[in-house]
Formats: sequence, C-alpha cells, structure tokens
Amino acid sequence: MKYRLGLVVFSLVLSLLIGLTLRRGAGAAAAGPHRPVIGFSMDTLKEERWQHDRDMFTARAQELGADVLVQSANSDDVRQLKDVEALISNRVDALVIVPHDGAAMAKAVQMAHDAGIPVLAYDRLITGCDLDLYVAFDNLRVGELQAQYLIDTFHGRKFRVVRIYGAKTDHNALMFKEGQDKVFAPFIANGSVEVVHEDWADDWRPENAKKITNAAITKAGKNIDAVLVSNDGTAGGVIQALLEEGLAGQIIVTGQDADLAACQRIARGTQAMTIYKPLKNLTLTAAELAVKLARHQPVIARDVIDNGQVKVPAVLLTVVTVTKDNLESTVIADGLHSRAAVFPR
Ligand code: BGC
Repeated sequence: MKYRLGLVVFSLVLSLLIGLTLRRGAGAAAAGPHRPVIGFSMDTLKEERWQHDRDMFTARAQELGADVLVQSANSDDVRQLKDVEALISNRVDALVIVPHDGAAMAKAVQMAHDAGIPVLAYDRLITGCDLDLYVAFDNLRVGELQAQYLIDTFHGRKFRVVRIYGAKTDHNALMFKEGQDKVFAPFIANGSVEVVHEDWADDWRPENAKKITNAAITKAGKNIDAVLVSNDGTAGGVIQALLEEGLAGQIIVTGQDADLAACQRIARGTQAMTIYKPLKNLTLTAAELAVKLARHQPVIARDVIDNGQVKVPAVLLTVVTVTKDNLESTVIADGLHSRAAVFPR
C-alpha cells in the first residue's frame, strides 16, 4: 500500500516536472539568472484574511528572491480573466490564482499554459483544466469540524439548524458543505438534526447571509437552535439579523477564518466558534512552491486532488477549531490578533 502510494506521488511529481518542462519549451524564454516574477491574481480582498494572504505571500516570495505582481478582481470573472491576461503580458514566470469562479478560471490556466507559464491554484481549486499545483487548507476537514462542533455542543439532544453555505462558484464552498454533510448524515437520518432552512450566500456576501437568516426566521419561527455558517464574513450577517430579532447569543453560530471581528464576537458570546487556518503556513508554502515553479525547480506535493480533468498534485494544510476556551492558545499565541484587540474593554 505504502509502496503504491509512494509510486502515485512519485509519478505525480514526475508528470508535474515533465509538464512544466514541455510548457517552458513551448513558449516562454529559457531560464536565465533574472529575478523571477510571480503574478498573483486574487478574487477579492473583501474578507480580512485575503489582505494577510497578499501581504505575507508577497513578503515571503521577496525574501526568496522573487517579485510579485498582485491583481484583485472584486468578485468579477471578466475582470479576473483580464487581470490574468495583463500578468501574462507582463511576462510573469509563474501564476498564482485565487479564482472567483473555479470553473471559469480554467480558461486562465489555458491562456497561461499557451504562454508557457505554470499555474498554482491558491486556497481555491480551479476545475476542468490541466492545473499544475494546488496549495490550500484541508477544506473537507473545515466542514467536518464546523458540523462536529454542533454535534458535540448538543450532546445527542435534538436540534433545529439553519444551514448557510458560501458562494456556489467557489469550489471550497462545495467542499465545506460536503464535510458538513458527511458528519450530519447519520444524525439527520436518526432525526436528531433537523435542517429547517438552507441556502447559498452568493459571493459570500454578509448581506445575503442576513437575508437568508431573515427568511429562515419567517419560515421556521424563532425556535432555531443553531446556524451552521461557512465563514466569519457571512456569520457577521447572520448575527446582525439575530441582533435585530433579539436572538443574538441564544443561537449557536459557526464560522471560519478567525477574522478579528469574529474573534471579538466569540469573546462576547454572539458567535460560538470559528475555524483557524494559520495563514502563515499557507502563504509560506505557496510562496516557496511558486518560486520553485518560476525557477523550473522540482516541486514535491504530498497530496493529490481530482479537479474533474486531472489529478492535481496538492499540499493540504491543517486547520483548528477555535472557541472562547482556546482563543488565547491559538490566534493570540500565534500573533494573529492581540489580546487587547480580541477582548476590548
Ligand atoms: C475561503 C475562506 C473565505 C471565503 C470567502 C473561501 O474560499 O477558503 O477562507 O472566507 O472563500 O472569501
């Protein structure tokens, strides 16, 4: 078994190397001693985390001797394709993409490959294309931990839950849901979990999550025990709706990202948990691998993910559940937020 796994990883690494060699041969100039440039095409900077991603990724790539050109598309596919086109025209040596729409960005990967440029999908998968590398957190695990938190909190007591998923266009949103489904399935089957309302928050917008919460209360009444929300931004919209209904703090709300506002809500008791994804691990790993791609050096990827077209070499990083009990030993200890910021007087 171990041998077979080793072989799979070896052959993935090999095919990645071969693919890249061919690609460079097809278009771009031969590797020279020049300082490599990495194009970083981001969907959005709306959520606080993406600003950290941008800054930490850029800083690490610079330390490693590369420059980074950053574009952010403001949740617009047409604009993101134009951003990628512009980066390609700037003759970047590697592209790192956080896709707004994981399927739509297959076209960007094709354009990059036509120009001989390798592509790393960052945090969100790009589907239906010959993607070179994927670096992200273990997104299935994120969904599992969110749902497991509710199962553990209610200790076998029956509970009524509203489920609010993220943007349908984001492959991660599907993976968070899949992880949640996996944990919930037996409890829905035995009747101890009742899903009273569910919907997708377009573009992960807090105002959409707020509307879904209002619709859920109109439909199911105030007798709701929990809202299973996929990230902190949308949890903010949910909690705003609950505040207006006088229900904040009485209904368990989940989240993800350990945004400062969410950590403050956890400290105050209006949000129960978040998932902490240590961005340092993601940004450092992605920057190191992107610089290697840009320099045509070998890349070792220990995981693999099927994007519907190919088995993409991947690196999937660990995530942690954060509640009031471990805010101190996780986000504060890691220096993500200061104690004074999380627990304002
Ligand atoms: C990311 C989350 C983020 C969400 C909205 C997801 O793909 O994994 O961390 O909150 O997008 O930007």
